[in-house]
Amino acid sequence: MITGTGITKTFRQRGGVLGAREVPALRGVDFTIPKCGAVSFIGESGCGKTTLGRIIAGLETYDAGEIVIDGVAMSSLSHRRRQPYFRRIQLIHQDPYSALNPTRTIHQALAAPLALRARQTGRPRSWTDERARELLGLVGLDPDYVLPRYPHQLSGGMRQRVVIARALTVDPEVLVADEAVSMIDVSLRLGVLALLKDLRERLGVSVLFITHDVATARYIGTDGELYVIYRGQVVERGPVETVISAPVHPYTQALLSAIPVLHGLESPGEQRVVPLEASGEHPDGCLFAPRCPFRTERCENERPTLGPAPGQEGGTPQEHACFHPERRSVVAVPVSGR
Ligand SMILES: Nc1ncnc2c1ncn2[C@@H]1O[C@H](COP(=O)(O)OP(=O)(O)OP(=O)(O)O)[C@@H](O)[C@H]1O
Ligand SMILES: [Mg+2]
Repeated sequence: MITGTGITKTFRQRGGVLGAREVPALRGVDFTIPKCGAVSFIGESGCGKTTLGRIIAGLETYDAGEIVIDGVAMSSLSHRRRQPYFRRIQLIHQDPYSALNPTRTIHQALAAPLALRARQTGRPRSWTDERARELLGLVGLDPDYVLPRYPHQLSGGMRQRVVIARALTVDPEVLVADEAVSMIDVSLRLGVLALLKDLRERLGVSVLFITHDVATARYIGTDGELYVIYRGQVVERGPVETVISAPVHPYTQALLSAIPVLHGLESPGEQRVVPLEASGEHPDGCLFAPRCPFRTERCENERPTLGPAPGQEGGTPQEHACFHPERRSVVAVPVSGR
């Protein structure tokens, strides 16, 4: 199990006439990835999803907070001693084209990490070939066809499967799939999603799914947890089905309003409009207040933190960060005049 508490990250971006500026990418995020779990992070572009995924995979530093992997606090270990823990969390990038070296065959791409694994576990060298074939079979590829080929000779879906097979060479506990199907052909997406779902069931790996799209989050694990992130803060979290069927944060409601089947425009008269694009923010207030049609003076002066959803106090799994949570009819629209 992996837990994070208070994960905070600010990037310092250079350039422009104004000189350097600070971009808060994550503002005290808490999360839990259980064994064999399916956890999804959703939110609009720039909300910090990739940054959080990279931090969880040990590829990015953070300014404050703690990550605990299987009971061991990462802050208590040196950089070198942390590596074996983070190696068990493998990141699958959205771009399977740049993830593989174009000058190496698939056999070469898998042989290097497997040879290392064989050395670490005292297995003979012959094991690496056997294991490469086994892993390719596991991800639904024909080893005889794929092994001698170069990445450019494979489709995007096949390449993403090879990337997943390579991630499996280290026997990971968690696969972090960052928009893992967004760059492959639409007709091949479902197959790769089904593979991730299948690996979760067959190998017991947890899947952390990073996406813009609620439907894919739901597909990966209906028994999973959904975290809705807005400007680096988790504004709602809970079981996927609960959050989708009864969202309480106006931002979650706006995100879901794009799915008319789930959230029909049953009472247009009462609908409130949320602009699609973010505007400024109140320094101490709710981050969503500038876009929120329900904001009050309190929202502009005080920042809500995650707490139980209404009527669910006492050990409820659904939480939100809003002073006025209730079921409402919300629709997201582009900012007028553009
Ligand atoms: N290496 C970096 N240097 C400076 N700023 C960065 C860096 N990486 C991310 N950021 C900034 O941090 C914020 C969060 O970025 P991040 O890539 O995590 O968002 P995201 O939710 O993954 O977005 P998208 O959906 O577009 O992939 C953005 O404002 C981004 O510009
Ligand atoms: Mg991203």
